[in-house]
Amino acid sequence: MFDLKAYIAEKGGLVDSYLKSYFGFEVAPALLKESMAYSLFAGGKRIRPVLALASYEACGKDPAKIVPYASALELIHTYSLIHDDLPAMDDDDLRRGKPTNHKVYGEAMAILAGDGLLTEAFRMLAAPQDGTTPSALLGVINDVAEKAGLWGMVAGQVQDMLSENPAAAPPMAGDLRDEVTFIHIHKTARLITASVRMGGLLACADAAGLSLLTGYGESIGVAFQIVDDILDLKGETAHLGKTAGSDLRKGKLTYPAVFGLEESSRMAEGLVEKAVGALGSFGAQARPLRAIARYIFERTK
Ligand code: IPE
Ligand code: IPE
Ligand code: MG
Ligand code: MG
Ligand code: MG
Repeated sequence: MFDLKAYIAEKGGLVDSYLKSYFGFEVAPALLKESMAYSLFAGGKRIRPVLALASYEACGKDPAKIVPYASALELIHTYSLIHDDLPAMDDDDLRRGKPTNHKVYGEAMAILAGDGLLTEAFRMLAAPQDGTTPSALLGVINDVAEKAGLWGMVAGQVQDMLSENPAAAPPMAGDLRDEVTFIHIHKTARLITASVRMGGLLACADAAGLSLLTGYGESIGVAFQIVDDILDLKGETAHLGKTAGSDLRKGKLTYPAVFGLEESSRMAEGLVEKAVGALGSFGAQARPLRAIARYIFERTK
């Protein structure tokens, strides 16, 4: 039996150790790094870096080699959470079991800590490491930039925000099902897809392998956000480490709001099965990826 809990603990531990030593520097003003580190080391599942390591492993490579690149994904993800929690966005007070960044450091510092994390992520990505070709690295940087920004997460966050007040927003083509699907693909699935593709790109996987990994990433990415929406309704604040019921309070366009709880759960489960199926021609080395897909459906936080 494959022990996913131990796998995530071990691989997440590699990422945490790397980030801890990376952030050993002093910088002026000290409060900037303190605020960045506060959110980065508040906890968190580290699932995006673990996915990058697992997909590199699925391509037959040693995941320890790409820890710095995988870790950069956590900087981008943490920045997105700090900004997502701001009063102008989801206005949340609790994240990773602690007061949100702006509650501790104020809004201006939270915005700048996010900016600092996003920029530093690309510095981390652009630093050459042994065994990585510049062209593979350039492919990764291009892909992560695409999927974190205008063509991915940022666009999804904008649509998420516009959907809170449909009367004031320009209409989107299609109906609410299309809109919530657009939001989830962009705000969450794209960065998760970039994480999975990172392993493939750095391992120089062929086009066919990369396309399987992309299909896997897109499916687990949407499933991840559907489950996040379900947990927001059914979970408890103390266990989640973030305030349950936040979506209802903000009138968010979520899968449960559009499709109902049961149908949303079925859809997430279906996507996870699809993701596992997408890995078809990958052998035993893709066991971690298969287990992570199932975990994404079964997780309770
Ligand atoms: C929360 O992400 C934000 C979403 C995109 C749903 P995670 O559930 O991965 O949060 P952490 O990193 O474990 O705190
Ligand atoms: C977050 O979606 C997506 C991001 C890109 C950060 P949510 O707003 O649902 O995430 P949580 O529930 O606050 O973690
Ligand atoms: Mg949000
Ligand atoms: Mg939020
Ligand atoms: Mg949520």
